[in-house]
Amino acid sequence: MKRKKIAVFIIVMFAGSLPLAQAFHPNIYEPRVPMDQLEDVQEIESPFTTTPERIELGRQIYFGKGLCVTCHSKNGEGVKVPGHSPRNFTDEKWQEIRTDGELMWILKNGSAGTGMPIRVGKGITEEEGWHVIQFIRSFGPAE
Ligand code: HEC
Repeated sequence: MKRKKIAVFIIVMFAGSLPLAQAFHPNIYEPRVPMDQLEDVQEIESPFTTTPERIELGRQIYFGKGLCVTCHSKNGEGVKVPGHSPRNFTDEKWQEIRTDGELMWILKNGSAGTGMPIRVGKGITEEEGWHVIQFIRSFGPAE
């Protein structure tokens, strides 16, 4: 990693780990959305149908201003960091159990107690968030 990239990485790690009040679950398959909201959040669907163009827009966010690649790495498996690791997007079981609505919730709320920062509303728009979710899905099994 280049020096500038490392600096960005450290700043984002720090910003993301500030809201430590809530504990996260060490089991990666456990929902991140609070139980009282889960059912409603799971049903939220992207207003955008999946197209190669939108996946490409998502890819640009992932590698660009979204900063996702600094933690989730080029191949989606995630970099190894001290503490709780970023999600491995190539995990088929994880891809299957999470709905797009839950992924959007994470982008809007971050994951308290981990390095996963709030991104939608802080760096990327909601539309860009849906596009990056389409790109994250491309790491999973083909439909
Ligand atoms: C500073 C490091 C960091 C950055 C930058 C980052 N993430 Fe994460 N991300 C994490 C960590 C750590 C987790 C694991 C959180 C957990 O287990 O609750 C995670 C988890 C996730 C999850 C899985 C949540 C779930 O329900 O299992 C999604 C989706 C996600 N990140 C998307 C993104 C996207 C999209 C971006 C860029 C817009 C991004 N992340 C940027 C560190 C990061």
